[in-house]
Amino acid sequence: MRSVIKLTAAIIVCSTTATFADSNKGIKMPYIEFPMKPGKGMYSTKGKCNMCHSWGYTINQGPQSKAFWRKKVIKMIEVFHAPIKNEDIEEVVAYLYANYGNGEED
Ligand code: HEC
Repeated sequence: MRSVIKLTAAIIVCSTTATFADSNKGIKMPYIEFPMKPGKGMYSTKGKCNMCHSWGYTINQGPQSKAFWRKKVIKMIEVFHAPIKNEDIEEVVAYLYANYGNGEED
């Protein structure tokens, strides 16, 4: 029994030491670029949508309806306080729908 306790203690000490040693190595994150499809409203959308998360996060949704994209843009404004003026919403929605739409309005 004693040896089991000693062994357990040794494992805990070793694994803790390993954790501290690893934390000095730094973390390498892969950089993945998600280019935006060129089109009317791309630059405006780029400035409004890519400040908090990558474009990959947005297009990960796959092709969607115009209503879906409108809802997402409004969610970003209302829930996360994206600084997008009401009069600019439709331009962003039009870009999203034209380039990442599924052909359906609703
Ligand atoms: C003020 C910061 C901010 C801006 C600007 C912003 N977003 Fe987001 N967005 C977020 C946060 C925070 C999340 C949620 C992250 C999570 O849940 O992991 C998110 C999540 C999303 C998602 C994932 C689905 C979901 O509903 O959570 C989509 C799609 C998205 N954003 C699209 C957009 C688009 C399009 C724009 C430009 C109109 C935009 N975002 C601008 C902060 C922002």
